Amino acid sequence: MRDFIEKMPKAELHLHIEGTLEPELMFALARRNNITLAFNGIEEVRKAYQFSDLQDFLDIYYLGTNALLFEQDFYDMTWAYLTKAHAQHVHHAEIMFDPQTHTDRGVSFETVITGIHRALEDARKKHKITSKLILSFLRHLSEEAAFKTLEEGAKYKKWIAAVGLDSSEVGNPPEKFQRVYQKARDLGFLPVAHAGEEGPAAYIWGALDKLGAMRIDHGVRSIEDEKLIARLKETQIPLTVCPLSNTKLRVFDKMEDHDLKKLLDMGLCVTVNSDDPAYFGGYVNENYIAVQEALDLSRDDLYQLARNSFEASFLKPEEKKALIKELDAYFADNPA
Ligand code: ADE
Ligand code: ZN
Repeated sequence: MRDFIEKMPKAELHLHIEGTLEPELMFALARRNNITLAFNGIEEVRKAYQFSDLQDFLDIYYLGTNALLFEQDFYDMTWAYLTKAHAQHVHHAEIMFDPQTHTDRGVSFETVITGIHRALEDARKKHKITSKLILSFLRHLSEEAAFKTLEEGAKYKKWIAAVGLDSSEVGNPPEKFQRVYQKARDLGFLPVAHAGEEGPAAYIWGALDKLGAMRIDHGVRSIEDEKLIARLKETQIPLTVCPLSNTKLRVFDKMEDHDLKKLLDMGLCVTVNSDDPAYFGGYVNENYIAVQEALDLSRDDLYQLARNSFEASFLKPEEKKALIKELDAYFADNPA
């Protein structure tokens, strides 16, 4: 099953590019840029990656980004992820970036997006990986700051497909960004949002009804609300679930407790993703393998998850069709 999962064609739809910064690259960049990090070495960083909850993780995650200063740094980080994704048979990636994490440190929006975009284009040519960029607002910051970020993002509209909402969820409900999302949709950005990771099901309703979210990042707490499950099933609004993230951040105590299989069996459009792979102990394949083993997923379940990853993407219908055809061929060529 492991080998079968590893080579299965798939898309990744929930991935924070800053969350792909491995300690080795973090230290190499710090050396190159002549800066001192808050950690004394790679081993110390890895030891610090034991989290009690989302905020505990975010505090360390934002520290790690201090190594990123120049366009080439953003290129190198993005290229490293795409190389890994290619090796894991990811054919399409929809990647979030947090501009405010960098602009608040004096790194320009242009520096960030130019480096990321150049790597995406190189991967499109070299690895045949297609991609979309999602500009994510930090929800612990103000509406005004989000509006400013949107204004900067609008200048690069041709490079950015969607807007997202991440960072500290509880206490920062979707409603806080209703007007920002209205503006973003008016500008032609597609809306997605983190909701129901640590926050309650009410935040998923808010993301759907107040932000117009076309996809919910995480959404695992939807299971607490029967009406919401019915809505998600009927509309097939996808959930981008990140199993290793959820256990690392103690949303579930152990993988056996994860509700992914229940949500899938209820007919929701569930996908598997890595969130912040450098921090949570695995890229997308390790996430598939962890849930397959803990929840005893069948080949049919795996097919559905991979198919959902293409269906739930922002690719054009004909592009989705071509990728699903590849998936079908993979299953036909590798019988049980
Ligand atoms: N930023 C990076 N990873 C995140 C997550 N899992 N939830 C919220 N914000 C994030
Ligand atoms: Zn996330």
